[in-house]
Amino acid sequence: MSDVVIEVSRVKRTYKTEIGYIKKKRKEVDALKGISFTVKKGEIFGLLGPNGAGKTTMIKILTTMLTPTSGKVSVLGLNPVTETKLLRPHINFILGGERNLYWRLSAYDNLAYFSDLYKIPLSEQKERINELLELVGLKEVAHQRVETFSKGMKQRLQIARGLVNNPEILFLDEPSIGLDPVSARKLRDIIRQLNNNGTTILLTTHYMFEADELCDRIAFIDKGEIVDIDSPQNIKQKTDNVSVIDFTIIGGNDMKINQLSSLPGVQHVQTKNEDILTSIKLHTNNPQTVVPLIYETMQEVVIQDLSITKPTLEDVYVQLIGGKVS
Ligand SMILES: Nc1ncnc2c1ncn2[C@@H]1O[C@H](COP(=O)(O)OP(=O)(O)OP(=O)(O)O)[C@@H](O)[C@H]1O
Ligand SMILES: [Mg+2]
Repeated sequence: MSDVVIEVSRVKRTYKTEIGYIKKKRKEVDALKGISFTVKKGEIFGLLGPNGAGKTTMIKILTTMLTPTSGKVSVLGLNPVTETKLLRPHINFILGGERNLYWRLSAYDNLAYFSDLYKIPLSEQKERINELLELVGLKEVAHQRVETFSKGMKQRLQIARGLVNNPEILFLDEPSIGLDPVSARKLRDIIRQLNNNGTTILLTTHYMFEADELCDRIAFIDKGEIVDIDSPQNIKQKTDNVSVIDFTIIGGNDMKINQLSSLPGVQHVQTKNEDILTSIKLHTNNPQTVVPLIYETMQEVVIQDLSITKPTLEDVYVQLIGGKVS
């Protein structure tokens, strides 16, 4: 077999629901509209996209929890729909915000419980669980009840839970959601360490820097379709001749901000209000001529902290998916 461990080909998924109380109406949502991609053994692959893009739907299909409406899926050479039982021992998943730990049990006992579910022989459990608790930094509190844990500790225990069967592929849906910056960094270290030990990882995240830091390749997905798929490096290089001009003004001035988007050479304008300040980001491939035009347009407005930088992955994401914001 080749080194491809996940193969997704023209996958569609339509949800059929009923809306309304008195007059029930059928509603169909096309969550995935014919998605294709492959993941290679040993990769960290990121699925990125806005709320409702179809990321969790895709993960549920790959992890045997949901059936595609049409298309072909293969995970480790197996069909998740018809070969569920064969596939499950080889994969594991952690879905964001999931609460499937037993709060009254200790960290150790939780892992013992899930090891039993995966039929890990008792003789191997103790060593494996201790290894996992060590990996996620919970050895000291192994015998403490989970209800006494912070969110970060629970999330790390979830990761350990996802590893009890030593999966070949680990699926992580928004693993760092709600974590403080230090805990999120620890989690990234764990993900990297797992990957160095040979685990293939497919993750979703809304944090672009996280995807940039971790992923070998990413797929941008929007409204059920793939917009781009490549390494973060290559995706950023596609905008190589683009610069980002960043500055802040006091107050908002919609008319002048609108004028910025029609300046020659300006490709994209994005604004964000923070208290009395409005921060403005503008994409252009000609900053030399655009900067003086900005000052001219924004006359009588105090411009602070103007800088010209190269696009980050987040900038590219906003340009590809965010549409024109002005
Ligand atoms: N069980 C369901 N029944 C009906 N519609 C659903 C169901 N689950 C998801 N959807 C719809 O399918 C689309 C894709 O949802 P999905 O949860 O896959 O998005 P997502 O990319 O994971 O978003 P988020 O970033 O918010 O987690 C959305 O329009 C959502 O409303
Ligand atoms: Mg989701």
